[in-house]
Amino acid sequence: MDTIQTIKWDNNKVIMLDQRKLPTEEVYNTYEDYLGIAIAIETMVIRGAPAIGVAAAFGIALGAQGTGVNDFESFKFKINSICDRLAATRPTAVNLFWAIERMKTCMNANAEQPVEQIICKLKDEAINIYNDDISANQQMGKYGQQVLENGMGVLTHCNAGALATAGFGTALGVIYAANHAGKQIHVYADETRPRLQGAQLTAWELQKHGIQVTVITDNMMPSVMQAGKVQACIVGADRIAGNGDVANKIGTYGVAVLAHYHRIPFYVAAPLSTIDFNIHSGKDIPIEERDSSEVTHIGQTQITPDYVDIINPAFDVTPNHLISGIITEKGIVKPDYTENLSKLLA
Ligand code: MRU
Repeated sequence: MDTIQTIKWDNNKVIMLDQRKLPTEEVYNTYEDYLGIAIAIETMVIRGAPAIGVAAAFGIALGAQGTGVNDFESFKFKINSICDRLAATRPTAVNLFWAIERMKTCMNANAEQPVEQIICKLKDEAINIYNDDISANQQMGKYGQQVLENGMGVLTHCNAGALATAGFGTALGVIYAANHAGKQIHVYADETRPRLQGAQLTAWELQKHGIQVTVITDNMMPSVMQAGKVQACIVGADRIAGNGDVANKIGTYGVAVLAHYHRIPFYVAAPLSTIDFNIHSGKDIPIEERDSSEVTHIGQTQITPDYVDIINPAFDVTPNHLISGIITEKGIVKPDYTENLSKLLA
C-alpha cells in the first residue's frame, strides 16, 4: 500500500528520499558507495531507527561491490572498516548496530565461498533486512490496531512512519492498520523541535495516506490531553533496554508523563531489532548530542542570542512503568517487561 519509498536497492545502487527537503520537495538521491550512505545517515537524509539500519546494510552491500580484492582475509578487513565507519554515524538507534552485525554474520558464514559469491550473499542479506522490516511493521500493525477504536484521537511524537523504516512504519503503521480495518483515527502530531520531524514528516505522510492529522507545537500537548482530545499515545523507539525502558526522540518522556497523569494509555511500537538485550536499563543507553545550531536556529533564522549556552540531546528515556504496552511483530508485550521481553527471544 505504501505510496512512500524511503529507501530502495535499485540496480546495484541505493536510492533514498531526501527527508531534509520534505515536505516542500520530493527529491531522490542516488548512492553508489558506502561513504555516501554514512554521510546520508549523519546529515539526516535518512533517519528513524529501522531506516538507518536498512541504510547501513545497503551501505555494506555497496561497499562489498567496491573492495577490489578477491581473497577473504583482505575482503573481511575492508568490510570491517566499512562497518566501523557506518557504526560511527549515530549512537542511539540500536537497529544500526543490529543490521551491521547481521551483515558481518552473513560474511563470516560464507567465508569458504569465493569473494564474488560473498558479495552476492551480502546484497541478498541487505535486501532481506529491508523486506523483514516491512513484514515486521505490517505484523505490528495487525497486533497494534487492536488497541485503537473508531473515533479515537491518537497522539504521536517525532516520525515513526514509513519514512522512518523500510516501509509502512511502526507507530504510524499501527494507525494505518487501524485505518485499513475501517477505524477513523484523528492523529495529533507533536511538531517535535528541534528538527521538526512531526510537523515536516509525520504530517506529510499522514496526509498522503488520507489520515486526519492536526499538528500541534510541543508545548500544546498537555492542554490537548487536558481537553480530552487524546485517547491513546503511540510512539516509536530507537532502543529498548531489556527492562522495557525506551529511548526515543527528545520529548517522548514528557508525553509519557502527561499521558500517565491524564490516564491515557501510552504505547511504544518497535520491531525486535530495536530491543537491546545487552543493556539492562535505560540509563545505559547512549544518547546522541547533536549540533547546537539545531536549537539556535530554525531553518536559516537565528532564534537565540549569540554565545548562549545550549544543550541538544536528540533522545530521552521513558521509564518502563509509564508504558502501557510495547507493540512488536510478535504481539503486544505488557509489564513485567524484563520477564516478558526475554520470553520473546525464546
Ligand atoms: O533523530 P531521528 O529522526 O532519527 O529520530 C527518530 C525517532 O526518534 C523515531 O521515533 C524512532 O527512530 C522510531 S522510528 C520507527
